[in-house]
Amino acid sequence: MSSPVRIGIIGLGRVFKRYALVLDPLVRAGRAEVVSVYDPVAQMRAEAIELFPEAAQATGPEAVIADPSIDAILILTSMNEHGALTSSAYQSGKHVLVEKPMATSLAEATELVRLSQSSGHLLVCAPHVLLSPTYREMHRRLQAGEIGDVKLARALYGWSGPWWGEWFYQPGGGALFDLGVYNVTSLCGFLGSVKRVTALVGTAIKERPVNGKPMPVTADDNAHVLLDFGNEVYGSVTTGFTIQKYGRAPAIELYGLEGSMDMLGDDWAPRGFEMWRSSVGHWEVFEEQAPDWPWTDGLNHLVSCIERGVPSVTRPEQAFHVLEVMLAAIQSSAEGRAIDITSTFPAPDYSHEEEFVMDEHRKHDTSL
Ligand SMILES: NC(=O)c1ccc[n+]([C@@H]2O[C@H](COP(=O)([O-])OP(=O)(O)OC[C@H]3O[C@@H](n4cnc5c(N)ncnc54)[C@H](O)[C@@H]3O)[C@@H](O)[C@H]2O)c1
Repeated sequence: MSSPVRIGIIGLGRVFKRYALVLDPLVRAGRAEVVSVYDPVAQMRAEAIELFPEAAQATGPEAVIADPSIDAILILTSMNEHGALTSSAYQSGKHVLVEKPMATSLAEATELVRLSQSSGHLLVCAPHVLLSPTYREMHRRLQAGEIGDVKLARALYGWSGPWWGEWFYQPGGGALFDLGVYNVTSLCGFLGSVKRVTALVGTAIKERPVNGKPMPVTADDNAHVLLDFGNEVYGSVTTGFTIQKYGRAPAIELYGLEGSMDMLGDDWAPRGFEMWRSSVGHWEVFEEQAPDWPWTDGLNHLVSCIERGVPSVTRPEQAFHVLEVMLAAIQSSAEGRAIDITSTFPAPDYSHEEEFVMDEHRKHDTSL
């Protein structure tokens, strides 16, 4: 068996607890070891050590980054810290997993892509939506031409918004970076690079209670974004901290010239999908095969890619592109015009992954 991947963690808030659920079985299986952890809040460090008693409490993020015994670093801090921490972790020769977005400015993200292209280390960027079995199966069927060329697509994700973390509602936070990022990543994974963006992005709720106290909101919380993928292929993303609930609206709708495909649930927690093929003439429903798929699966992926010496399914260039699209949406809304997008990214590469084919036996015709 190969030696465990030695991990350092920077940022031990709510999301760390979710990554811990994936990390714990990796540690138990001898595939990972938590070497050191850091958060400026002592209580967060103490809670992390309770979960991983073998880990050391570092004195600062630099101490985690400089530790030569660490192979990979998880950056799970608030968003404005991602770019600089990822850059220094990467430059000290570590593999890095960074929560979304990879950075909050294009200048920082440009540097991360440049570093990743000149290094043999992995940079796995959240969100990890392209790894879900449901996404992979839909992607496979789309590539196989089962619904023909897609011309229209819609995506939706929102909720009423966090009540913790002031940074969510300050510049560098906002609903697009926190929520829209999932939908933009999903649509780009299916349809490729965006060429042009038009959007309405605003702050609908000017003051919110956070950690029990009212605070002014200075980041976006409400957005409709139109994406032009070129060749008359159009997508839209509806997102916001302004959505209490939605019913059975699909997370992702793909409209092809020979059929349609809907991802049910949310793209970070799919609940199967349904497909209409004009040649078949009825809806086929594919029940979720991995209801416990964790949206933190990027960590399993990181460890597995390190063990096998293979590249990750999604590349940093896609995270960069998604950031450019989200910043362009904000600019488009402010200036009342369409914004051209210049970056592109390589298509997701599933060739190093075990083939996943959704069990056809559980498919049933509901003739909707
Ligand atoms: N909360 C969610 O539902 C959710 C889901 C998916 C992804 N995310 C992403 O995960 C990240 C963290 O979100 P969260 O909800 O855990 O936020 P949080 O506020 O609960 O935790 C962030 C932690 O980072 C720490 N931190 C800030 N600066 C730091 C630094 N320089 N070094 C080390 N630690 C530092 C803070 O003290 C805090 O404990 C964000 O990028 C967010 O977008 C959040």
